[in-house]
Amino acid sequence: MNIKQVIIKAFHDHPGEFISGEELSQTCGCSRTAVWKHIEELRKDGYEVEAVRKSGYRLIAAPDRLSAAEITAGLDTKHIGQRVIAYDEVVSTQPLAQEAAAKGAEEGTLVLAEMQTGGKGRLGRPWHSPKGTGIWMSLVIRPAIPLPKTPQITLLTAVTVARTIREETGLPVKIKWPNDIFIGDKKVCGILTELNAESDRVNYLVIGIGINANSVEADFPEELAAIATSLRIESGQPVKRAAFIRQFCRFFEEEYDYYLQHGFERVKTEWEKNSYTIGRWVSVQTISQKLEGRAVALDDEGVLMVEDETGAIHKVYSADVNYRANP
Ligand code: BTN
Repeated sequence: MNIKQVIIKAFHDHPGEFISGEELSQTCGCSRTAVWKHIEELRKDGYEVEAVRKSGYRLIAAPDRLSAAEITAGLDTKHIGQRVIAYDEVVSTQPLAQEAAAKGAEEGTLVLAEMQTGGKGRLGRPWHSPKGTGIWMSLVIRPAIPLPKTPQITLLTAVTVARTIREETGLPVKIKWPNDIFIGDKKVCGILTELNAESDRVNYLVIGIGINANSVEADFPEELAAIATSLRIESGQPVKRAAFIRQFCRFFEEEYDYYLQHGFERVKTEWEKNSYTIGRWVSVQTISQKLEGRAVALDDEGVLMVEDETGAIHKVYSADVNYRANP
């Protein structure tokens, strides 16, 4: 941690309290003058810090900026989110996270940006990622699981994002197979998992998560306005993005550790409970076939099971799913 990060952490550890210059200088291992200089820098970064003679410094407000210091301060996880690489503007966080992973970035490394100019969605689609309104992040993990089980991690991520949204906003969310998070009939979050593996060994996964957090209606281009929404639009409140990410990291780590020890059952149950898909009549387009039927459940591996009109069960591994009125 650099000195600014240490100061931000100290403020987070003492919410609403003054911390004396002397205490900060001891915590940071630098002079009181250096502390003052760093406080000035924090002010330039948008932090509102009150300074009172004899009392010290007190944080009044932190900017809604996704800096590494803001996210890691007060984050009590072991791995997830403990290393954050934050950018202002990138093409996409996915290749940057892959590059970091290829160079050995540890499990739990989070790459994020205030804005993406070429955000990637599933199936080669673009992902609209305007400045400062969303959470555009890519998480590096290195699970010791066989290759065919990796889609389970995407379902685990969806369950974890859904839980975070409920915890932070109270909004009712649903998961559309495999990994879109919906509020009502509109999408609020998408997940794109990319894999690097050799034979049957996973080197790393990069889980890209895009959450429309603080966008207002005008932020969506016309073609998205009818199908996308944001947490702010739905709740009427802006989301504190750094706090949201910290909560996501906690939930993810807890669920991921449990999954690695005990398997997929708990994720499957929660996914089905939150599902927008199970019980609905769906039209499924895979690379090779189109089929219609009722989505009945996930199997024990996380594959979607669809029952067609003849009662035959089809397993859907990867596809676009659309919803139909019951026949
Ligand atoms: C989808 O199509 O629903 C998946 C969208 C995934 C978007 C996220 S935003 C952060 C990361 N970087 C990207 O370019 N894409 C993912």
